[in-house]
Amino acid sequence: MSLRLGDKIPNFSADTNEGRIDSFHEWIGDSWAVLFSHPADFTPVCTTELARMAQLMIEFEKRHVKPIALSCDSVDSHRRWIEDIKSFGSLPKSTEPPFSFPIIADVERKLAVQFGMLDPDEKDAKGLPLTCRAAFVIGPEKTLKLSILYPATTGRNFDEIIRVIDSLQLTAVKKVATPADWKSGGDCMIIPTVSAEEAKQLFPDGFKTIAVPSGKEYIRLTKQPPL
Ligand code: BEZ
Repeated sequence: MSLRLGDKIPNFSADTNEGRIDSFHEWIGDSWAVLFSHPADFTPVCTTELARMAQLMIEFEKRHVKPIALSCDSVDSHRRWIEDIKSFGSLPKSTEPPFSFPIIADVERKLAVQFGMLDPDEKDAKGLPLTCRAAFVIGPEKTLKLSILYPATTGRNFDEIIRVIDSLQLTAVKKVATPADWKSGGDCMIIPTVSAEEAKQLFPDGFKTIAVPSGKEYIRLTKQPPL
């Protein structure tokens, strides 16, 4: 199964280093969530990724986003690996709760298969496909807002994940879209379905229409509206 944007995320229960999650939907609650998958514990790229994610935890919290990782090893293995992650990322040894975010133990790869997270090109010692590096951003109503899939050999950019969360949360409530390379605080584009009349009401501080050879007035820039 592959998830499409807007799909309801299937609910599931899972064991994690922080204990059992009986209902993923209840665990998300009214927050946003990011589900990250990882090929395996005690692997170099995954260690850099989880350390980076833990360093950015305050940025996820500011945005009311609950991160949760998934790796196809046991809870015991996750707990031992977390000590390496903390050491590698110079993270406090006594992070409470046990780590900044839970790591799902998907030993039988049930969730990896259900969510279409396998990388057919990377196999473990037994010849089984490894989990790829997926990141699923999930909204409070439990639908898929964004997905990225990287192969096992390419680590993700966690500043980019924070950047897209900023765009998703802004564009969920304001009639704007964010242009190439946008960063929070940068100018936004008024979405094409907003008429010129509506745009004047919605953006009283004004907007700038960029002249293009077609003469069409569709590139309309405005300051980032406050949330
Ligand atoms: C890693 O996390 O370093 C890794 C895992 C599987 C394949 C390649 C790299």
